[in-house]
Amino acid sequence: MTEIIHAAAELRSRVRAWRAAGEMVGVVPTMGALHEGHLSLARRARRECDRVITTIFVNPTQFNNPDDLQKYPRTLEADAALLSGVPVDVVFAPSVDEIYPEGFVTRVSVGGVSEPLEGQMRPGHFDGVATVVTKLFGMTEAHRAYFGQKDWQQLQVVSRLARDLNLPVAVVGCETVREADGLAMSSRNRRLSAPARANAPRLHAAMTAAAEEIRAGQPERQAIRDAGAAVLRAGFERVEYIELRDAETLLTSEDPGRPRRMLAAAWIEGVRLIDNIPV
Ligand code: PAF
Repeated sequence: MTEIIHAAAELRSRVRAWRAAGEMVGVVPTMGALHEGHLSLARRARRECDRVITTIFVNPTQFNNPDDLQKYPRTLEADAALLSGVPVDVVFAPSVDEIYPEGFVTRVSVGGVSEPLEGQMRPGHFDGVATVVTKLFGMTEAHRAYFGQKDWQQLQVVSRLARDLNLPVAVVGCETVREADGLAMSSRNRRLSAPARANAPRLHAAMTAAAEEIRAGQPERQAIRDAGAAVLRAGFERVEYIELRDAETLLTSEDPGRPRRMLAAAWIEGVRLIDNIPV
């Protein structure tokens, strides 16, 4: 079974020894409830680094809905067992007090890229992410950090953060892992009933159809409106957004020379799903 370390000081002495021996350290930050998407990040880290740490911490400051925080699955033992199969060297699972000790008052806030879309729908969310990721980078002293493209905006926020603060870590974005029917893997999928689970891939299908229409020269607004209507017909109760944005800044962009991304958030059976694809 993979070793679980709870204290930052213990992790630090372990990492210092690795680094002194000239070893490359990779970190995969997670909130646990691991699935194949997380494991693929850990496997990539395993291929590219001498030592791999997976962090498991359900970060309260990035939840703007207390119910969501309370319902978030906490499955440390099962997660550690899955990680043994990769294998990773250490699971770092700090307590809330270890990350936010009494007197903690610092907040890391990334402007620009964290403001639209998820930033608007979930106020404060990216401040919580940026703050905890900065702490995890400091605590793990990793050379490389692996994040899924499934949370595309988060990946851009963390990349911007690392660049802006000259953090000595390479942020590596990894392809979204999908179920055979196209649904992006997510810890939230396990909250769906069988009928909702069967309809959930229609979000990705509608986005893919819209992206194809846009590439074929159809008007963008119409293609996106059609995608939204298709998602609602598929049994989703609400589409928060389906948007075509500059892939890096997340601003609206008509510049055909810049890579663009279609991003979406929609609710099915009270579960909020997000997805994104290149266009
Ligand atoms: O993507 C996640 O699981 C979280 O947002 C992260 C990056 C581990 C920070 O809590």
